[in-house]
Amino acid sequence: MIPIAKPFLGVEEEAAVVEVMRSGALAQGEKVRAFELAFADAMGARFAVATSNGTTALYLALLAHGIGPGDEVITSPLTFIATANAIAQTGARPVLADIDDSLNLDPQAAAELIGPRTKAIMPVHLHGNPCDMPAFLALADEHGLALIQDACQAVGATIAGTPLGVFGTAAYSLYATKNITTGEGGMVITNDPRVAQTCASLRHQAYSNQAYVHEVIGYNFRMTEMQAAIGLVQLGRLKVITERRRDHARYYDAHITSERFLRPRVAPGHRHVYHQYTLRAPRPGGLSRDEIRTRLEQAGVGTGVYYPVPVHRQPAYRHHANPSCPRAEAAATDIFSIPVHPGVSDAERKVVAEAVNAL
Ligand SMILES: Cc1ncc(COP(=O)(O)O)c(C=O)c1O
Repeated sequence: MIPIAKPFLGVEEEAAVVEVMRSGALAQGEKVRAFELAFADAMGARFAVATSNGTTALYLALLAHGIGPGDEVITSPLTFIATANAIAQTGARPVLADIDDSLNLDPQAAAELIGPRTKAIMPVHLHGNPCDMPAFLALADEHGLALIQDACQAVGATIAGTPLGVFGTAAYSLYATKNITTGEGGMVITNDPRVAQTCASLRHQAYSNQAYVHEVIGYNFRMTEMQAAIGLVQLGRLKVITERRRDHARYYDAHITSERFLRPRVAPGHRHVYHQYTLRAPRPGGLSRDEIRTRLEQAGVGTGVYYPVPVHRQPAYRHHANPSCPRAEAAATDIFSIPVHPGVSDAERKVVAEAVNAL
């Protein structure tokens, strides 16, 4: 079976972990600091704050932008549930606006839901495909809103050559299946020194300038030195990993010729980093998505669906009375992803394309 995801780790990561273990300094320290500096630089931001995972990175970014009870944050319904959970955990309400044909939050749909309680917009770069950030920046400026990117799936993505950090605060996940990983891990990047300082403090029990004096209630969302050591090596591989994923995507673009499938739009100049390579199989007259997935599995091709239930249809969010999002609902029923990770060989990607064409 060609798996849908597989971490891309080597002996350098092993050696880096062993070095940390032998040093005896295991908790957040110099490696984490070095990883933060390198990550900020790679993403085009002034500051980076490492966290325990992507959800805590999103949560801290929201808190640092002053989001809390009574506020509304507009985001995409077609995302991992963690996006909405991070918003809800601040006491704010996630407001789900529909997507467009890129599968990302539609700036126009987001604009229509801005109201007196709206404090922030959180676009999600789904599957590594960058959102229309210039449009969201303009919208946030016009209405005086915070703009916080859920870049959990989009490490290394750029827009017209500009890294996402230039567009302001973003949160990344370094979970095991992400393009680069520390097993679990996260990162907030920002150009605002106050946001960086607030995230760094809250992550570590809200430390202050006075040792063991705490003005507010904080958290333990720290990253370990082992994670950071792996992360530093992984970051060094980012170019190679991204290029391999993009090369697989170009291959699928050219060789999956079946007219049965649609592809999410990638805007001109948007550098998609293909955390997932996603196809759409609108049903009329064809196989159901379940049948497609079963047949691909029989041909040795693993698939995934990211995500089958939009946030506003989740039992946990039903009480939020969100308006319907028909485009997200349609996508949730017809999307599926095929293996695009760097562990896929040239021979395997041929198997994948042929299996998809044979459906
Ligand atoms: C879009 C999105 N948001 C948030 C998260 C949360 O990240 P984590 O699992 O590291 O907490 C993830 C990844 O899992 C994600 O894909």
